Amino acid sequence: MHTVPIPREAGQLPFSAPVSRIFRIDQTLWHRLAGAARAASAHAYCPYSRFPVGAAMLSADGSIAVGCNVENASFGLTSCAERNAIFRAVADGATSIVALVLYTPTAEPVTPCGACRQVLAEFGRDAQVRCICDGPGSIDCVAHELLPHGFTLARSRSGSEL
Ligand code: THU
Repeated sequence: MHTVPIPREAGQLPFSAPVSRIFRIDQTLWHRLAGAARAASAHAYCPYSRFPVGAAMLSADGSIAVGCNVENASFGLTSCAERNAIFRAVADGATSIVALVLYTPTAEPVTPCGACRQVLAEFGRDAQVRCICDGPGSIDCVAHELLPHGFTLARSRSGSEL
């Protein structure tokens, strides 16, 4: 894991805190995240789709975690690059997502699948998401734009503290 200096109080924000409003991600950092996502795609295990995907996630404590897609002969067990990056970051102690870069080996950028959008929203509704590819185009958006009216436990249980 690589770490960039980010104010200490940021790491103490609760899950899904609007951290991206606090941090401005400069071009150098975006470039670094893009490079990490591309590099991670080289490790994808994708013998079935032959579609290697890479993701790099910046957490509020300044750490960067990467992920690639990992497929399985039982196709439904495949796990996407974005979710693998997020789960890895959480295992390393991250509590919220500031930004995530998704790289796909396509001519046009591709946005995260529905399952990954739900997982993204869990840890950073305001996370900045950048989708990059082999072409010149990219898509920039915020996690909650990718999942309007997404599921939350708080809304499904009246009176719950969650
Ligand atoms: N995949 C990802 O890793 N992320 C996405 O956002 C879309 C799809 C992977 C899953 C599978 O291994 C391959 O791409 C083809 O769907």
